[in-house]
Amino acid sequence: MGITNYSLFPVLLLIFFLFLNFLAAQSSSPPSIYDHLKHNGLPEGILPKGVTDFSTDPETNRFQVNLTQPCNSDSEIQFHYDLNITGPLSFGKIANLSGVFQQELFLWFPVTGIRVDDPASGLINFDVGVVNKQFSFSLFETPLDCTAVDPNDSFSSFQLPSKLVGAETAEEQNLRAIS
Ligand SMILES: *[C@@H]1O[C@H](CO)[C@@H](O)[C@H](O)[C@H]1NC(C)=O
Ligand SMILES: *[C@@H]1O[C@H](CO)[C@@H](O)[C@H](O)[C@H]1NC(C)=O
Ligand SMILES: *[C@@H]1O[C@H](CO)[C@@H](O)[C@H](O)[C@H]1NC(C)=O
Repeated sequence: MGITNYSLFPVLLLIFFLFLNFLAAQSSSPPSIYDHLKHNGLPEGILPKGVTDFSTDPETNRFQVNLTQPCNSDSEIQFHYDLNITGPLSFGKIANLSGVFQQELFLWFPVTGIRVDDPASGLINFDVGVVNKQFSFSLFETPLDCTAVDPNDSFSSFQLPSKLVGAETAEEQNLRAIS
């Protein structure tokens, strides 16, 4: 009997430590949308600062963010975020993103996908309109401030029909190839 008690001791110790861990996990706050991005190998700064209203569907991996107001990011690359941003989140990738736009030559193009193909490359890929753009991952490490845009200033009036978006972007590529 004495032997049994001795051999139980390490087990009890282990249970005690597991219990402490459990308490620690309980007291830390629930994951933020930024934690979800980080766990999926994506930088936090692809969303603006201060997002608190979000949901993730564990079945489809679709996330939804509700901002308080649509906004334009105060970053060197100009992004516009709609009131509602949604897309399926998977490791290193958000496919079929909606609610994010990037400005180029005074026009706004929808950002439909974000991908980190190779974390070692230090690059992140954005599908903008019909073009794939690569940016430095480090540009998106921290969520940035975002200036609220008056929802009555209909943002959609700046958008072009998708056919034109494609044409415009091809033009842009030509310009780039020439210069
Ligand atoms: C966002 O708004 C929609 C529609 O009102 C609502 O169903 C949803 O719960 C809100 N919050 C999130 C995080 O999706
Ligand atoms: C978008 O977000 C706002 C809250 O910020 C919410 O009231 C609205 O219902 C949402 N719309 C959709 C389609 O989820
Ligand atoms: C992309 O998302 C939209 C809603 O944001 C949805 O209606 C559409 O079915 C999705 N397409 C795919 C291929 O998942």
